[in-house]
Amino acid sequence: MNSKPRISMRDKHMQASPIRKLVPLANAAKEKGVTVYHLNIGQPDIETPREILDAFKKIDVKTLAYSPSQGEAKYLNTLVKYYEKVGVKGLKTSDIVVTMGGSEAILFAMMAVCDPGDEVIVFEPFYTNYNGFAVMANVNLVPILTHADDGFHLPSSKRIEEKITSKTRAILICNPNNPTGTVYKEKELEMLAGICKKHNLMLLSDEVYREFVYDGERHVSALALEDISDRVIVLDSISKRYSACGVRMGCVVSRNSELMNLIVRFAQARLSSPYAEQIASAESVHITDAHMNEMIEEYKMRRDIVYEALEKIPHVICKKPKGAFYVIAKLPIKDADKFAAWLLTDFRHDNKTVMVAPASGFYATPGHGGDEIRLAYVINRAHLKEAMSLLAEAIKQYHKIESK
Ligand SMILES: Cc1ncc(COP(=O)(O)O)c(C=O)c1O
Repeated sequence: MNSKPRISMRDKHMQASPIRKLVPLANAAKEKGVTVYHLNIGQPDIETPREILDAFKKIDVKTLAYSPSQGEAKYLNTLVKYYEKVGVKGLKTSDIVVTMGGSEAILFAMMAVCDPGDEVIVFEPFYTNYNGFAVMANVNLVPILTHADDGFHLPSSKRIEEKITSKTRAILICNPNNPTGTVYKEKELEMLAGICKKHNLMLLSDEVYREFVYDGERHVSALALEDISDRVIVLDSISKRYSACGVRMGCVVSRNSELMNLIVRFAQARLSSPYAEQIASAESVHITDAHMNEMIEEYKMRRDIVYEALEKIPHVICKKPKGAFYVIAKLPIKDADKFAAWLLTDFRHDNKTVMVAPASGFYATPGHGGDEIRLAYVINRAHLKEAMSLLAEAIKQYHKIESK
């Protein structure tokens, strides 16, 4: 017998992340001395607050041991205080499980709510890695399209209910939204609460960008939906909030004790979240409002730079984002995947180029997003201005190449 070792069917379904799949091309360009501005990934250049960095230096233990599976008490208490401050009152530490990033929180929530083959409704475009977690958990994402014309707000309850089948277990939202920048209104959340109650569904709310809202918008946490408090699962992370992506600190929050009991057992299976990272993250309780406000103001200025630049590029369609730090833009080109690769392999201006995420991977419906890109405004303003001029020039050149 000379047959190949068998690997799972997930090999067929697991996408390469559109945020990361072009990294080898970017590295090759950099090796040739080309400057690459990264607008492809939500990795902010903003410094992690001193409170967290200093706490790492102060850790003085002889053994870096496992933590309790649910999380270190000190960090859980910090999280309860944090939620109280953002208006979520009365949470208990038992309503929270610390996870390795928001990423593990998403996977735990899907696995806690769904059996293999069950369905979760999502609004496209959506955070691309939901696709990956759905494949890992054997869950089918059922996408409902949202549109730039109305700011990618939620469709009517009728359109959502049409997608509900006997397999539907949950609705998954991201608020504020990656990749659209939409901040959902309270009445939209109430509509979802009504649907979840009527059809016996859970509401999974990814709120990792909670602080990043602009232009007087107000973020409403799903944890405020008292009427369905046993159906709400919030997925959270400090990666973006405190510019601490490498700390890998997230959490699952729910007032449904039966569900949390299952999530604790998932957490026990992977033993513990990292100890030092939790001790350091516990110090986030001392980060001031002034620090947070300064960071939000900085993102708003970056948002304005990106949006104003996009508005000036002929035939680009996009909506001004109201939150998070991304924008989806429809380009006057046919194939954004090829365009994103060409930016790294061919396009150069003063020996510089820009890296973007092609948007098709942010959709589950084949054929959607093929002419769109997602930009992350996470680099400093001077570089961002330069990156946007490069993008404008590149679109002009590529448009000519495609029309030949
Ligand atoms: C919407 C959303 N949810 C979750 C995550 C996962 O974040 P992390 O695992 O770094 O906490 C990200 C990261 O970009 C995100 O954009």
